[in-house]
Amino acid sequence: MKAWQITSDGIDALQQADREIAAPGAGEVRVRIEASAINYRDLMTVKHAAARGIPLPRIPNSDGAGTVTAVGAGVTGVSVGDRVASCFFQDWTDGACSPEAMASALGGALDGVLAEETVLKASGVVPVPAHLSTLEAATLPCAALTAWNALVEVGRLKAGDTVLLLGTGGVSIFALQFATAMGARVILTSSSDAKLERARAMGAAETVNYKTTPEWQKAVLDLTGGRGVDVTVEVGGPGTLARSVDATRVAGRIALIGVLTGGTIDPTAIMRKSMTVQGVYVGSRRMFLEMNKALTLHAIKPVIDHTVPFAEAKSAYKAMEAAGHFGKIVIAG
Ligand SMILES: NC(=O)c1ccc[n+]([C@@H]2O[C@H](COP(=O)([O-])OP(=O)(O)OC[C@H]3O[C@@H](n4cnc5c(N)ncnc54)[C@H](OP(=O)(O)O)[C@@H]3O)[C@@H](O)[C@H]2O)c1
Repeated sequence: MKAWQITSDGIDALQQADREIAAPGAGEVRVRIEASAINYRDLMTVKHAAARGIPLPRIPNSDGAGTVTAVGAGVTGVSVGDRVASCFFQDWTDGACSPEAMASALGGALDGVLAEETVLKASGVVPVPAHLSTLEAATLPCAALTAWNALVEVGRLKAGDTVLLLGTGGVSIFALQFATAMGARVILTSSSDAKLERARAMGAAETVNYKTTPEWQKAVLDLTGGRGVDVTVEVGGPGTLARSVDATRVAGRIALIGVLTGGTIDPTAIMRKSMTVQGVYVGSRRMFLEMNKALTLHAIKPVIDHTVPFAEAKSAYKAMEAAGHFGKIVIAG
């Protein structure tokens, strides 16, 4: 079967290879992958595999969905013909994140799913919600689950809360969809007025252009009567965190997710404002199943910016690098 492999650093070093596909062992399933969505993390892994200590060659990407073609011994609850999506962590079914879970990340510690077929744990896949195509479901394992974890588990979001979202990438657009479905008020930032308009059309109550308003945290404070938002989904990292802390209320919560920017962090304001700043690393299979119930109930469809054919996978990473996208970029088989 064909697979893309990281062979050294850089998008252009990705190579297509013919790989043997094993029969599924006990507790495993073989899946014909029909689509794989990319995340900023996959772009970073492809560009900086050596610094990340990734063993090479390595198949990239955590996110895939497709159809089960074989099941191993002892597998219950998953059958040939089922449509499934991969779990980012093959060994995180429930409870808190653990070193064992972290050692089971697809497209990092383990080979990923940018391949025609793959073998996954039966406990490392979830059923595709019936209202979604497999292509749409391929966007769920990382970005959607991270947004869900940030809002529901870490943010403990309630109807009426105000949420701050940064940018219009995969995580933030799923967070916009979940937060509006949950009855929260969303304030969203972007570098693009056209993207802000799209976000408002999707339910963002207020928007701020962080390029034309570099002190965007002040605009967010103004929009909340000087109080600050209840929950911030922080995808920016060190370069945006201080402003996010300013924009979040006393005793508010920040889900620390991203590394889009560099810099250093002064923790003083976090202490003074009695805030909870919690790291988020995607989420567990239990969270994925709960998220899929909400997706189904609210008939939420992932926002896909564009899809590229499997043979042109490199162009997907280049598009993400250019950051013109809104929502997700998908590689279809
Ligand atoms: N911890 C985890 O489990 C986890 C999981 C998923 C993602 N992440 C991280 O979260 C971040 C976002 O991931 P993603 O996959 O959603 O990325 P993505 O789809 O590539 O989104 C990138 C978007 O972020 C916005 N952005 C860039 N710099 C910004 C800044 N200074 N301020 C505000 N927005 C900015 C831009 O939006 P505009 O074009 O609208 O300006 C850009 O298009 C990445 O750092 C990724 O590694 C972490």
